[in-house]
Amino acid sequence: MTSLETFPLPRFPSDFRWGVATSSYQIEGAAAQDGRGPSIWDTFSKTPGKVVNGDTGDVACDHYNRLESDLDMIQSLGVDSYRFSIAWSRVQPLGYGAWNTAGLDFYERLVDGLLKRGIAPFATLYHWDLPQGLQDLQQGWEARDTAYRFADYAERMGRLLGDRVASIATHNEPWCTATLGYDQGVFAPGKKDVPAMLRVSHNLLLSHGLALQSMRAAGVKAPLGIVLNQSPTTAATDSPADQTRAQREYDRFVRWYMDPIFNKAYPQGPELAQPDNIEAGDFDIIAQPLDFLGINYYTRIWASTSTPPVPAPNQDGVSDMGWENYAQGLSDLLQGIHRDYTLPPIYITENGFAEADKVVDGRVNDPGRQAYMQTHLQALHEAMDAGVDVRGFFYWSLMDNFEWACGYDKRFGLVHVDYATQQRTLKDSALRYRALIASQRKR
Ligand code: NOJ
Repeated sequence: MTSLETFPLPRFPSDFRWGVATSSYQIEGAAAQDGRGPSIWDTFSKTPGKVVNGDTGDVACDHYNRLESDLDMIQSLGVDSYRFSIAWSRVQPLGYGAWNTAGLDFYERLVDGLLKRGIAPFATLYHWDLPQGLQDLQQGWEARDTAYRFADYAERMGRLLGDRVASIATHNEPWCTATLGYDQGVFAPGKKDVPAMLRVSHNLLLSHGLALQSMRAAGVKAPLGIVLNQSPTTAATDSPADQTRAQREYDRFVRWYMDPIFNKAYPQGPELAQPDNIEAGDFDIIAQPLDFLGINYYTRIWASTSTPPVPAPNQDGVSDMGWENYAQGLSDLLQGIHRDYTLPPIYITENGFAEADKVVDGRVNDPGRQAYMQTHLQALHEAMDAGVDVRGFFYWSLMDNFEWACGYDKRFGLVHVDYATQQRTLKDSALRYRALIASQRKR
């Protein structure tokens, strides 16, 4: 491993949180164990042609059965915070009706196991694994009632864990649920229906507001918020067409979720169709005050209207996902939303890099990931210097896992997972992250 001198980083505040992140369907496996109900991702991943290699989350990293050793592994990274999500269908198999004690117990053991190891638990209620029961009953997020079912679920989890976790986020990346699930059809439930996509985006936001209301009414003490994926957009040229395209992309990606929460309206414009299911008072529900905002940042959006499109410069390379490595975008994004909205404290709830990692002689050399982490932390610090209130950083992900439509083909982990044996191997980036956190703590 190269010495820390080659990883020069300015000082972050002493109470800055250093963490790693995961989500339930991507790591837990145990899909049919202890009463877990199926989710829309079980159904989708088993639909031929939807996931690379026909991979599913049936086993994934088998985290459900390896909880204690995985918690020890998290502790061995030297992080002080861990972000995870709760599989709704594990705790309430149909998404309505009966609760599953074994599922509730798993998340209690997870939270208590973290606390015992001195690690702060950051919970997310919805990371895309909707109970299939709600899809079957009423078309899932297309039904307004699903927002109310979500608020009930949030209240139950809030009552159970709210005095032990460091925060609760309602949704992870609702843009993905709506746009990838209902417009592009590449994520569960795999529809291509723009009016449905708009309705779903509205019901997701509504469910977020209802959940904050129900958790606050129940006296939940943990800070409450939402996690949004955001990117700045860059027009490929200064042509008016590219400029307009860049603005539209930003409206759809960033403002579509920020404006209702902070300004009680969707962005308006000629190419911005509005949902047809907005009811009086909805924006008052959606715009509940946030205790924190989680931002997931991976790359920028490059907007070109030419055929073929003008390519992004990619001067710092691309990840195995084909995403441009563009650290400056994190600083630009944060400074932009800091200017445009009155923000609560921010956490970078995800930031990470996929590489085709291999274990060689017990070691995984992943220079791309280390460079990505370094440049993004530098960019983050730049934004903080410019006045953005950021309280923590979570690397995505703790370990390689089920990367949705890409299956197990793409590796984001700090820890390598051999899926045939479930052997975990700390990559060089994990050692680097551990050293970096230690050096930040040294005063
Ligand atoms: C964001 C999502 O929240 C996470 O589930 C996914 O694995 C990463 N991006 C990488 O694509």
